[in-house]
Amino acid sequence: MSCDDTVDCGRRRLLVATAAAGGVAGVAVAVPFVASMLPSERAKAAGAPVEVDISNLAPGEMKTVEWRGKPVWIINRTKEQLESLKKVADKLADPKSEKNMQPDYARNETRSIKPDILVAVGICTHLGCSPTEKFKTGADSGIAADWPGGFLCPCHGSFFDLAGRVYKSMPAPDNLEIPPHMYLGDAKLIIGEDKKA
Ligand code: FES
Repeated sequence: MSCDDTVDCGRRRLLVATAAAGGVAGVAVAVPFVASMLPSERAKAAGAPVEVDISNLAPGEMKTVEWRGKPVWIINRTKEQLESLKKVADKLADPKSEKNMQPDYARNETRSIKPDILVAVGICTHLGCSPTEKFKTGADSGIAADWPGGFLCPCHGSFFDLAGRVYKSMPAPDNLEIPPHMYLGDAKLIIGEDKKA
């Protein structure tokens, strides 16, 4: 139906114009609101997986990287250190990591994908202090004549072995967390992502 210059037609034109303007305003308001809900680049980066080159990590060495604000240890264990894992098993609270949720590849004696390389979150499972490395063995360690190497939490004295497994009767209830991780080739690790995560 065509529209002439009657009052009804004038009202109809006004309604159409108002609705169109409202639609534009709705879009203009909605865009900044949606944008404010998106994570910032910084927040995305803070949760992003971390790539680590371990090609220069010699046996017996450890490096620490940050992932999601947490320290993650990467340790290249020597043959002697790997041997020590068997010797301490009966002194540990959860030698096979059965108690707490861990990735499948942490449910073995070395708690690792590759036997020599341990990747663990360096935060005590008691109240969140960061344990210190105590790699010196025996009397030189200042801990005990038969100390095989491991970690000591300075806050309340929890001991962990070289696979991050907590000793029996310690304040810390669980083994150290093993973060999701995987290898990209022999010498490159991704922390924060694995095929099963
Ligand atoms: S925080 Fe580590 S023993 Fe308490």
